[in-house]
Amino acid sequence: MSRLFTPLTLRGITLPNRIVISPMALYCAEDGCATPFHFTHLTSFATGGAGLIFTESTKVERRGMGSFGDLCLWNDAHVEALRPITRAIKLAGAIAGMQLNHSGRKARSQRPWEGFGPLQGSDEDLWPVIAPSAISHGEGWATPREMTIEDIREVIDMWVASTRRAVDAGFEVLEIHGAHGYLIHQFLSPKANQRTDQYGGSLENRLRFALEITEAVRAVWPEHLPLFFRVSATDAAGWELDDTVKLAAALRARGVDVIDCSSGGMATRSPTASGQTLAPGYQVPYAERVRHDTGISTMAVGLITEPDHAEEILGEGRADLIAIGREALYDPFWARHAARSLGVEKDFSGWPVQYAWWLNRRARAGNSIAR
Ligand SMILES: Cc1cc2nc3c(=O)[nH]c(=O)nc-3n(C[C@H](O)[C@H](O)[C@H](O)COP(=O)(O)O)c2cc1C
Repeated sequence: MSRLFTPLTLRGITLPNRIVISPMALYCAEDGCATPFHFTHLTSFATGGAGLIFTESTKVERRGMGSFGDLCLWNDAHVEALRPITRAIKLAGAIAGMQLNHSGRKARSQRPWEGFGPLQGSDEDLWPVIAPSAISHGEGWATPREMTIEDIREVIDMWVASTRRAVDAGFEVLEIHGAHGYLIHQFLSPKANQRTDQYGGSLENRLRFALEITEAVRAVWPEHLPLFFRVSATDAAGWELDDTVKLAAALRARGVDVIDCSSGGMATRSPTASGQTLAPGYQVPYAERVRHDTGISTMAVGLITEPDHAEEILGEGRADLIAIGREALYDPFWARHAARSLGVEKDFSGWPVQYAWWLNRRARAGNSIAR
């Protein structure tokens, strides 16, 4: 029996299979609102059979914006633009997931294809940058203003307000983005966080911001809906897998259901833009260790492109969910094609009837390639 196509119940939600579309920024929102391209992008994965589809990193406030094209969720227009997308995903039998984020000191960035470097301009031309400490991400990046305790309270309130809006917009899974060198990761990091108050110094203090956001979000995110948290399990800048295990245990105690195990983004611009050759499933060991040591469910991500490989990861108990990123850009119907290649679907009956009727008829007539 296929593990990849075994449903998974998390709290009151049942994912129809273990295939998740990983959050992928499109950098083309208009005033923070989803566009027709977001609709096409996200809903095609639902038509394509994935069980859970995450939006890209969606910002809780203006100061947290990465680029001008970021998706945002702090006003009613943002909610209205997302609603048709969640509705279409649900009608297709999939679950819509929202990833919330704040860029912190990595705010004000060019789009990848425009250089991926820092935008040049003043706070007035662009937007102010805040972070745990007044240390820039790197050469050319804005030096952030160190957040006061009031700023911390205010940003937590923004997360809460966006969480409420995510419910309103129809999302049924929420992911807190605690990875890739963004604000939450900056607080976790001994490199980016040099504070001397209760939010800096010891590991316990550096975890505080992540845990306070999680508690505040969990308090307003409905009890029956699952909460995910994305970590950079290691970051080549002082954050180690042992730290992630401790964080995961603390998150589990606060009602997080799944740890999404990514890596990097603190020392580098992006975990995927480094251009290095990486092995398939290079981050699976992180999902395996967190799952094994804490008992929490995990999601594996990173160069998992073959259905057999995904099946093996789940079968060996190394993760509970498989996230697909770039391969889904190449093939938005990855899940349906996986079902056929694994022998889970012998015909097209699991496909939308608008397609299935024609494809089955073509197959019966012997006019299709056997895939
Ligand atoms: C175009 C693109 C945009 C991305 N945007 C996000 C994002 O918004 N939030 C996030 O957590 N990760 C983001 N990532 C990372 C992916 O979610 C995923 O972790 C990474 O691509 C590795 O998986 P893959 O090898 O299957 O692509 C992005 C990746 C790509 C390719």
